[in-house]
Amino acid sequence: MKFFIDTANLAQIEEAEALGVLDGVTTNPSLMAKEGITGRNNILKHYVDICNLVEGDVSAEVIATDYEGIIKEGEELAELHDQIVVKVPMIKDGVKAIKYFSDKGIRTNCTLVFSSGQALLAAKAGATYVSPFIGRLDDISTDGLSLIQDIRTIYDNYGFQTEILAASVRHTMHVIECARIGADVMTGPLSAITGLLKHPLTDIGLAQFLADHKKGN
Ligand code: E4P
Repeated sequence: MKFFIDTANLAQIEEAEALGVLDGVTTNPSLMAKEGITGRNNILKHYVDICNLVEGDVSAEVIATDYEGIIKEGEELAELHDQIVVKVPMIKDGVKAIKYFSDKGIRTNCTLVFSSGQALLAAKAGATYVSPFIGRLDDISTDGLSLIQDIRTIYDNYGFQTEILAASVRHTMHVIECARIGADVMTGPLSAITGLLKHPLTDIGLAQFLADHKKGN
């Protein structure tokens, strides 16, 4: 299972990368705005800065919502760095653009996916990744994890190569359940990754080992 971090914060990306388990980064316009990155040139430069910090895929989202605009913007993003994956929303023109990018060998991440039908369309269009937002479904009392399970079944039925990127992951149990179901990738905050480290018995056991070592020396 690949681990992506869902942030545009360079310090957090560096921290996750330093742990040695990071496979990529996802961003979105809200995450860029949260870091105060505004203006086309600054945004493009920030994507390159992220690519230079990590070895894996970096999702960069288009702002355009019409076919020609998505193509123009996506090609510009893809030109920035070979690690860039063009993130395209699940709308009609987005699906058409994903098909265009797929035919041209430009990798895509189909975002804002909330149903298995949408995920099926994204895979048929040739998306590299599909991003079902599990946390946002949980927020409206709908089981986000069962969507991951449904998409897994559908993709396996037909051998679709599109990778299931569980997005809007909020906590460690989302990560663990996604791994159990067989999501190919998860993207979440740094806390969902570092939280996996924690267990009180590890802390107690380590304290005991160190205390015993001290006694014997
Ligand atoms: C996915 O790529 C999105 O950036 C993200 O996971 C959205 O998560 P949120 O629901 O926590 O904003």
